[in-house]
Amino acid sequence: MRAMVYRGPYRVRVEEKDVPVVEHPGDAIVRVTRAAICGSDLHLYHGMMPDTRVGHTFGHEFIGEVHEVGSSVQNLQPGDRVMVPFNVFCGTCFFCARGLYSNCHNVNPNATAVGGIYGYSHTCGGYDGGQAEYVRVPFADVGPSIIPDWLDDDDAVLCTDALPTGYFGAQLGEIDEGDVVVVFGSGPVGLFAARSAWLMGAGRVIVVDHLDYRLEKARTFAHAETVSFTEHGDVVRHLKHLTDGLGADVVIDAVGAEADGAVLQHVTSAKLKLQGGSPVAVNWAIDTVRKGGTVSVIGAYGPLFSAVKLGDAMNKGLTLRMNQCPVKRQWPRLLEHLRAGYFKPSDVITHRIPLEHIAEGYHMFSAKLDGCVKPIVVPGAV
Ligand SMILES: NC(=O)c1ccc[n+]([C@@H]2O[C@H](COP(=O)([O-])OP(=O)(O)OC[C@H]3O[C@@H](n4cnc5c(N)ncnc54)[C@H](O)[C@@H]3O)[C@@H](O)[C@H]2O)c1
Ligand SMILES: [Zn+2]
Ligand SMILES: [Zn+2]
Repeated sequence: MRAMVYRGPYRVRVEEKDVPVVEHPGDAIVRVTRAAICGSDLHLYHGMMPDTRVGHTFGHEFIGEVHEVGSSVQNLQPGDRVMVPFNVFCGTCFFCARGLYSNCHNVNPNATAVGGIYGYSHTCGGYDGGQAEYVRVPFADVGPSIIPDWLDDDDAVLCTDALPTGYFGAQLGEIDEGDVVVVFGSGPVGLFAARSAWLMGAGRVIVVDHLDYRLEKARTFAHAETVSFTEHGDVVRHLKHLTDGLGADVVIDAVGAEADGAVLQHVTSAKLKLQGGSPVAVNWAIDTVRKGGTVSVIGAYGPLFSAVKLGDAMNKGLTLRMNQCPVKRQWPRLLEHLRAGYFKPSDVITHRIPLEHIAEGYHMFSAKLDGCVKPIVVPGAV
């Protein structure tokens, strides 16, 4: 089969690989019909994630058709159209029993923190991902769901991460009626977080980024006010000014460890590797929220140290909430919103890339070229 393969930082290509086989009676093999490239894939692509091995296939956002199932699989059969959450999880361990599917204890030898994630390095379990023609799906009775007939492929693939993660970010913010919500990051995750904030009762939503074409999307898709951080010497001060001087009630970090906006942080993290990633966005969030407010962190940070302003968070009495999204926990409620027409997730898709051209896709998404917000990968297309 054809599969995206990592060759080293900033180098990916499509290679021939063996079609995966059932390794455990609970596995399914899925023929991928749509995959996506995510901001999270960029951390791998840029060499920021420890133990990203040459030969690994990325892709934690994918849907497809069941090709084969192991002997113990009950809920799926060949031909079923399925969406697969980005988390690999067992469904029965201490953490899964509490709905913490992203923290499953049975799927990753490094499971003291994160559980398993498809196509996300050996730090996250070493599972090959779905930017390929076929993918092995462990615990096939637990993770995947059959896609309802009324949900089209483009919308379904965004249900495997970007939409539920944005929605989860707003949930973690514990938004009260009328709250002022600031979202850092106007990528797909930030856009969905901003849009979800309204659903949860926000009275005002302000999105911060520096890419004008994405801020435009935040205005049209998420109906948010926008702030470009490069237009203000001190963006925190500007945001305070916009929020009665006290700060926002809730701030969502949808940027993560590769934030722009502070040269020193960029040099000490991306270049010198003295920090696991730049803490600029999370520190701006801590500074922007009012005393006693809530910071929700859904932007991804790696396992290594970053210089987060914990003292300020402590002394302001903040609530900090964060996690990788437990995707399947969000589906029942989200599917109701999709069916009711509140979300049309595919509105954020800007590019459709044949699997064979995925290297160009990574370059375009990484360099934020051609107005790219969300690229979808289509195996078999040319
Ligand atoms: N928690 C989870 O489960 C989960 C799931 C998916 C993605 N993520 C993470 O969420 C983050 C966003 O994902 P995405 O797909 O939207 O990525 P993306 O790269 O498309 O978007 C990130 C956006 O942040 C902007 N940005 C950079 N520095 C900024 C700053 N200092 N302030 C404000 N904006 C800034 C960028 O210009 C970009 O538009 C990534 O870190 C990704 O790894 C987490
Ligand atoms: Zn993703
Ligand atoms: Zn588990």
